[in-house]
Amino acid sequence: MKIGILTGGGDCPGLNAVIRAIVRKGIFHHQDQFVGFMEGWRGVLENITRPLDLEAVKGILPQGGTILRTSRTNPSKKENGMERCIENLKRNGVEALIALGGDDTQSVSLKLYDRGVKVVAVPKTIDNDLTGTDLCFGFDTAVSIATEAIDRVHTTAEAHNRVIVVEVMGREAGWIAIYSGIAGGADVILIPEQPFDIQEIAETIKGRHDRGRYFSIIVVAEGAKLANRTPDTERRKTDEFGHVRLGGIGNTLAAEIEARTGFETRAVVLGHIQRGGSPTAFDRMLATRYGIGAIDLVHQGKFGRMVALKGNDISSVPIADAVSKTRYVSQEFIDVAESLREQHSEEVSSS
Ligand code: F6P
Repeated sequence: MKIGILTGGGDCPGLNAVIRAIVRKGIFHHQDQFVGFMEGWRGVLENITRPLDLEAVKGILPQGGTILRTSRTNPSKKENGMERCIENLKRNGVEALIALGGDDTQSVSLKLYDRGVKVVAVPKTIDNDLTGTDLCFGFDTAVSIATEAIDRVHTTAEAHNRVIVVEVMGREAGWIAIYSGIAGGADVILIPEQPFDIQEIAETIKGRHDRGRYFSIIVVAEGAKLANRTPDTERRKTDEFGHVRLGGIGNTLAAEIEARTGFETRAVVLGHIQRGGSPTAFDRMLATRYGIGAIDLVHQGKFGRMVALKGNDISSVPIADAVSKTRYVSQEFIDVAESLREQHSEEVSSS
């Protein structure tokens, strides 16, 4: 069978491990042939391809990024975009397409599937906010990097009597912030799901310092929002899926905390460091299982579906379900963070 593969949206540690698993199982067990479409949907739209054989996937398991490169190209925003994609898939003799991506990439997969293309989806986003699966590969790597950064920031904050704000990724959902914040022992964790009041955060920090602590760590997701304030997103650039470029909440927060508490406050923005580099062993394993799951779906003829992790089992869900809504941080995790938060002295003495 001739199978096309592409990687779309923001890159993610483990993409190469997925590609390798698909190609190896496809060739070893089904004598498949593969074609790689470069730079996400741009490659399909503009017919930019590369050969994908055993030689091409040699040594890529531990590599970050993606050998197919990526983009946020949205063919449905281009003139005759979907038709051009279908035409190029035919031109390359592609009988099935495996798309690795998050909700934007998979919304295009769904449009193609609805037009008769045999598509299988693999969930990808370090933000871990895709519905239908319990976990996306790349998330564990991002959390490990963020946690290590928080540990490092901890010792320098303590040495200098500072408040340090660590801004992590997480556009709609605060999974990276809540995991790394809990794992790194942050004093305050701010996520997009819970708009926050700056004065309240300043009071929390002041209260902590009044009780004898002389440093604090705040972890904030880039998409976290101030309560009662419309986000200043109008002047920001948007991508082809309409998402504004985020970032900056860490610096805003640091300036406000310093002004309201008088404590020296610095911000560290982790940004793309969380997305680059080699995947953890956990992510290599998950990515490999997703790759095997995807090629299995192709040969079972189960198209229009996305591989998914349910508990510890690989299964699949309709792509339509996966792109229908964002998977937000669940109350259980919010409760864990809340249970660990330092209480004011009155609260402690009355408990
Ligand atoms: O992949 C999702 C994400 O990591 C978001 O958290 C973030 O807003 C976005 O990517 C940034 O990606 P880029 O800088 O590549 O546009």
